[in-house]
Amino acid sequence: KRDMTPYEAIGGEHMISDLVEAFYKRVGNHPDLAPIFPDDLTETARKQKQFLTQYLGGPSDYTNEHGHPMLRARHLPFEITPARAKAWLSCMSDAMDEVELDGMLRTQIFHRLTLTAQHMVNTPDEEG
Ligand code: HEM
Repeated sequence: KRDMTPYEAIGGEHMISDLVEAFYKRVGNHPDLAPIFPDDLTETARKQKQFLTQYLGGPSDYTNEHGHPMLRARHLPFEITPARAKAWLSCMSDAMDEVELDGMLRTQIFHRLTLTAQHMVNTPDEEG
């Protein structure tokens, strides 16, 4: 027998789906994030569900369809500033509140996402 993965422990497909919907609703309304995302976030959300599924130990849905995530490389076409990383994480934290993802697992997952978000930064904040 093996331990539950974080994917299983938070509620699997259902929780990931609710979380990602709650997240992109906020991204699409965020003044600093919306401009770099497509107007229609359906496909973005679909890919993010696949990615987070495997990131949290579930099935390799993202890699099966898109190959190695190479997340930093896939973000290079966008100006990811420290301010945008902060905004991304704030949308994620609010989405976690909405779907009532709490406790130790939330803390652990959010910490990991914080490191990943920092790793995506490729552009300094504007001065002034
Ligand atoms: C795609 C922004 C952090 C996972 C994207 C796209 C943008 C973006 C603009 C393209 C959307 C599209 O064309 O559909 C940002 C910003 C971040 C950030 C501003 C702030 C740090 C993250 C983090 C993760 C992540 C922390 C993972 C936990 C993804 C995935 C995709 C994506 C899986 C889809 C890649 C693909 O096209 O296959 N992101 N992102 N992003 N992002 Fe982020």
